Amino acid sequence: MTTSSTIPVIAIDGPTASGKGTVAQLVAAQLNFHYLDSGALYRLTALSAIRHGIALDDEQALAQLAENLDCSFTGGEIFLGTESVTLAIRAEEVGNTASKIAALPALRHALVGLQLRFRRLPGLIADGRDMGTVIFPDACLKVFLTASAEARAQRRYKQLIDKGFSANIEDLLKDLNERDARDANRAIAPLKPAEGAYFLDTSDLTVQQAVEKVLGWYATVKQAV
Ligand code: DC
Repeated sequence: MTTSSTIPVIAIDGPTASGKGTVAQLVAAQLNFHYLDSGALYRLTALSAIRHGIALDDEQALAQLAENLDCSFTGGEIFLGTESVTLAIRAEEVGNTASKIAALPALRHALVGLQLRFRRLPGLIADGRDMGTVIFPDACLKVFLTASAEARAQRRYKQLIDKGFSANIEDLLKDLNERDARDANRAIAPLKPAEGAYFLDTSDLTVQQAVEKVLGWYATVKQAV
């Protein structure tokens, strides 16, 4: 019998712009697994809050927004209602707002069910901050993916410029450090390596090398179960 706990999950957690999204999507494509970009859910809630003018400390209103998030992920695009917000949620303002509201327990709680529903056969690869520690503690493989702050600022810079946003490396580095501190020091579900996580520092790795590492670890843990 298939119960959700028998559906394999690979959890990839790490700081912002560490490359975990890129690696996770490529691993998902190789394994034909579903993919959960949990950060997108916090970004969608943030975008919606900004648009509705909701105060960033109004925990109940924000939790309600998250609970009723009308979002869908189709063909690589992310929708809020019928509007594609794939690009809009990548703006720095939205990422910073997401990091702020992600510290609110009621909001995190409101997003749990939505995240669990991504666990479908043949398997799921989920990336975020608390995938291995809180949302999928029974994941068969947990990876903590990092890169130096400088490497991450460079990557974020390139991502933003490629998407047509303007960006400045010094400002990005400052924002990254602030966001890391906020994500790692919050009281609830802080960014930290899960017990038993494999560490992957991608500062000096190509995307393909990082993907191969994860696939290699997955092949090992799969054999063991
Ligand atoms: O991964 P990202 O940059 O898209 O995430 C945006 C913010 O959302 C991040 O700064 C913190 C929050 N987040 C979180 O608290 N828990 C997650 N599992 C994913 C993201």
